[in-house]
Amino acid sequence: MSSLRSNNGPRIKYTPEDSPYETIAVDKLTPLIGGEISGVDLAKPVSNRQMDEIHRALAENLVIFFRDQHLSREQHLDFGRKFGELHIHPAAPAEPGHPELMVIHADKDSFRANGEGWHSDVSCDAIPPMGSILYIKKCPPKGGDTLFANMYAAYEALSDRMKTYLDGLTALHDGEAAYRGLYANYGVADKPAYPRAEHPVIRTHPVTGKKALYVNRGFTRFLIGVPRDESDAMLAYLYQHAENPLFQCRFRWTENAIAFWDNRCAQHRAMWDYWPHTRAGTRVTVKGERPV
Ligand code: SIN
Repeated sequence: MSSLRSNNGPRIKYTPEDSPYETIAVDKLTPLIGGEISGVDLAKPVSNRQMDEIHRALAENLVIFFRDQHLSREQHLDFGRKFGELHIHPAAPAEPGHPELMVIHADKDSFRANGEGWHSDVSCDAIPPMGSILYIKKCPPKGGDTLFANMYAAYEALSDRMKTYLDGLTALHDGEAAYRGLYANYGVADKPAYPRAEHPVIRTHPVTGKKALYVNRGFTRFLIGVPRDESDAMLAYLYQHAENPLFQCRFRWTENAIAFWDNRCAQHRAMWDYWPHTRAGTRVTVKGERPV
């Protein structure tokens, strides 16, 4: 059967919530994921009303973007702190004196760039981060986009039989395979051990109450309690399903833009298509809660 024939109706049916914002404007990248926010300068005091609407925009769009922001390191860190305690990455390099400010950098001498495969940040932590706030200061002339995918939509689009199969299953997420040796080219020595954790395959978002698929190629190793060949086949299907472009948006960076994504319901993937050019910035990551 040709893959161009799809006779079963839309894979995803989605009606966006459409009540107006009062203190910011939100321009959706797609109906399912991504909202570009304007009308706020994060270097100036942000009112409580604006903060409420930014929270709402994140909940509705899973990843939000701000362009032309001019923040000091402290202002970037302070913006993150408005959403919770800051997370320290278990492996990646940080700005000197600022362990919560992760360095994102690739240039002509790089062997790799951060986040080149689909993942949810540090899902190997027992308490993985809620969100990540990436501030890109230097962009290549073209490329270096980041792709984001909606894991509520991925869950919703599963068949009822598959949802029943996955209900109650857990999976192992392993930082060892993901991180060992990964940052050697930045001169970062390996830690004696990296985190590993067991998480539900389907998690419920603590704010929206919606269910999201929570396995990713970057960290998930196997499903617990089923034979390994079954786990491999099931995870291969779930990764392929989660990476369907239907669930995605793609953000084209400009210098001094910020992307803030919710790791509990979105995965992302960075494109390293700009060698030998430089792309650089910093990421502040906000602590989350134990997935349930
Ligand atoms: C990451 O935080 O995974 C990197 C994302 C990016 O550089 O676009």
